[in-house]
Amino acid sequence: MPISIKSSREIEIMAEAGRILEQVHLELEKALHPGMSTLDIDQLGRKIIEGCGCIPSFLNYNGYPASVCVSVNEEVVHGIPSKYRIIQEGDIVSLDAGVIYKGYHSDAARTHAVGNVSKEAEDLIKVTRECFFEGIKYAKEGNHLFDISRAIGRYARERGYGVVRDLCGHGVGTALHEAPEIPNYELVKRGVKLRAGMTLAIEPMINIGGWEVDWLDDDWTVVTRDHTLSAHYENTIVITDGEPRILTMTERT
Ligand code: MF3
Ligand code: CO
Repeated sequence: MPISIKSSREIEIMAEAGRILEQVHLELEKALHPGMSTLDIDQLGRKIIEGCGCIPSFLNYNGYPASVCVSVNEEVVHGIPSKYRIIQEGDIVSLDAGVIYKGYHSDAARTHAVGNVSKEAEDLIKVTRECFFEGIKYAKEGNHLFDISRAIGRYARERGYGVVRDLCGHGVGTALHEAPEIPNYELVKRGVKLRAGMTLAIEPMINIGGWEVDWLDDDWTVVTRDHTLSAHYENTIVITDGEPRILTMTERT
């Protein structure tokens, strides 16, 4: 599939989808506390998204049964919310959500520390977020797609972290997953040239240990093979001829 270039009209719709999703994440972060179940988080997320007149992008996507992916500790992404999974003090919790507004998707993820967490966990969350910002330094018209990938991968590797290879970032627009795929690791190839109007979801998934992951028997939950902690940070951005515009982060979140 070719990479779609969005018109300014489409970008403004996606910007609204992004602002709404940013607020969803801010509210979920405020609500997150020990003793709640991962299903409580999902139900709250769905309520907020629908309250904004949007559709949760993930609900029923390829059969995914929830509106918010909730991935705890060694879970990398796509954790399925459950009333039996209770958040504990000291956990790190990755929340990934998407909304559809006027037919356009936004997609973003954050990893939060619940109460006091280990220094290792705190550093992991910080570095994963920094990986995103390192990557988007290269997200500019005229650069190549894998310049972003290389910057993310190198930043994590130089700090001793494992970079998940089995899942990638992606184009986003009228579909949740559009071309191109955006790896988070260094490639020899430079990839396609970036052009203004491309809308991309950049999403480093970083592990304290090795890069290898496994899928649980629910066919969704991705976990680190060595059971070390994993973090996820994602925003939907637009390529311009200057700095990229981050649609799901207008405040610093
Ligand atoms: N941000 C996630 C991704 O890009 C979306 C979860 S997909 C779903 O892969 F299937 F869980 F909805
Ligand atoms: Co995504």
